[in-house]
Amino acid sequence: MIFSRRQFLKTTLASGALTPFAYQVAAAPINPLFDCGVASGDPTHHSVILWTHTREPIGLTWQVARDLAFKQLVKSGQGETSLTQDCTFKIDVTGLEPGTTYYYRFITSSGQSEPGRTRTLPAGEPESLNIAVASCSNYPFGYFNAYHHIAGDESVDFVLHLGDYIYEYGQDSWGDEEGRKLKRRHQPANEIVSLTDYRTRHRQYKTDNGSRLMHASHPLIPTWDDHESANNPYMQGAQNHQPGEGNWADRKAASIQAYYEWMPLREPAKQAEKAQLWRHFGFGNLATLTTLETRHTGRSKQIDYAEHLPQIKSEQTLRHFIESVLGDPGRSMLSIAMENFVNHKLAESVAQGTKWRLIGNQIPMARTNIPDATDLTLPKALADNGAIAQHFGYFMALGKYDLPIYLDTWDGYPVAREKFYQLCQSAKASDLIVLTGDSHAFWANQLFAGDGDAMGVELGTAGITSPGDFETFGPALAGEFDQRVAQHNREILWTDCQHRGYVKLELAPKTAIASFIGVSNITSEHYSAKTLRQYQISKAGSSLAIEKI
Ligand SMILES: [Fe+2]
Repeated sequence: MIFSRRQFLKTTLASGALTPFAYQVAAAPINPLFDCGVASGDPTHHSVILWTHTREPIGLTWQVARDLAFKQLVKSGQGETSLTQDCTFKIDVTGLEPGTTYYYRFITSSGQSEPGRTRTLPAGEPESLNIAVASCSNYPFGYFNAYHHIAGDESVDFVLHLGDYIYEYGQDSWGDEEGRKLKRRHQPANEIVSLTDYRTRHRQYKTDNGSRLMHASHPLIPTWDDHESANNPYMQGAQNHQPGEGNWADRKAASIQAYYEWMPLREPAKQAEKAQLWRHFGFGNLATLTTLETRHTGRSKQIDYAEHLPQIKSEQTLRHFIESVLGDPGRSMLSIAMENFVNHKLAESVAQGTKWRLIGNQIPMARTNIPDATDLTLPKALADNGAIAQHFGYFMALGKYDLPIYLDTWDGYPVAREKFYQLCQSAKASDLIVLTGDSHAFWANQLFAGDGDAMGVELGTAGITSPGDFETFGPALAGEFDQRVAQHNREILWTDCQHRGYVKLELAPKTAIASFIGVSNITSEHYSAKTLRQYQISKAGSSLAIEKI
């Protein structure tokens, strides 16, 4: 898709997100050389990564200033884009002040990029910290309006992206029906496998207007989930990697290389550490954020219901499945190296008296079993659709045995989840705010370890565009399923699979507010957004309390 500056401005105006900065970005003269805009991310207290892409290899100057007019320059330098990095450019700008907003741009002999705005991590005693939490932006399904809305919120300090930033599917797969209607079909047309494929896909995603404006407006804290490589990967392979698609290690390496090229992400010291994408961010004495890597570095292969459900016919076979198959103590989620890192960083956060401890987590953590819903029936029109009827029957079968909805989430790794809770407890951190993506639904959850000890809360974000699981059953039934799932599971206070959007977390020293923000549609760039629910989180003993506002 060719980016249209006029369309960008029109969209921004129409959606009411015309902040002074967004207006400046939208109104800036277009330079087609910078076809994917600008981005920043992976902030520390004194540095931040600036990113851009050019249509062809070229020398450039980067500038960082305190003001949008670039009168107060604080840093600048030269560089070049080359085909070796797919014409992406990254610079780690150092020597910056903590908790400070900066503006940046790139200049070439044939003009300059639009301006970007970024921010370093705060130090000292911040009074507030606002984080927008996003995941699951699937290009064919629709416009990234939720990104656009995040861009328009001047109070957002950082955007945490929990993954599924791109999807690997080809035009013969999920989302293409919508993609055809919206002229947003995946490029390349095939499922992405090679380095060239992954690069092409990343480039396509960064042409979305909402994405472009969000990246220009706020720094990103990125982490991947599964679809940045292929659906449901684990240490030795992936569910969506077939023998005809070459060697998994090569494909994984290609996906990771393209991710590092195309995201505003700091390069690790050693090439071998690229897959070890776990990070720690400190926001003065207000909060720490530890992000996990749950796909490539420590995960055992997922259990597949298709293989096991037919064997479950009695209480005994059910117990065997839960205790010996799911509960196999050899099945891991995190690597030992990451467990040590998380334990160390949480202990440090507690010892320093930091008020809030956030975990950036890809996959749902709370126990989420399907209730028995055999009294529900699909409307006739949907029951006649084979795929929907099969999907419905699958949930009915799980509900009959009170089984987890997903097995690629922490529910499929109950021993590893307990181990994670224990390492948090050993760091005296039972007050986690776990921020979660992947499920394409909103969640407000409490978390409890197996022995019943409170571990904190979980805030799950809906997809930017990816649809929720129950949605194919129609609005009435989907709403009923949401309600029943919440009633059935002790840890779940509320869930909603029918909206696209994001979570905004506003931290203050004593309380935190979580807002679940939905957009009205993703089939047009003209949309509105509303807060569907808000929860207040506060300290309660050694853990946290959460209540609806
Ligand atoms: Fe997703």
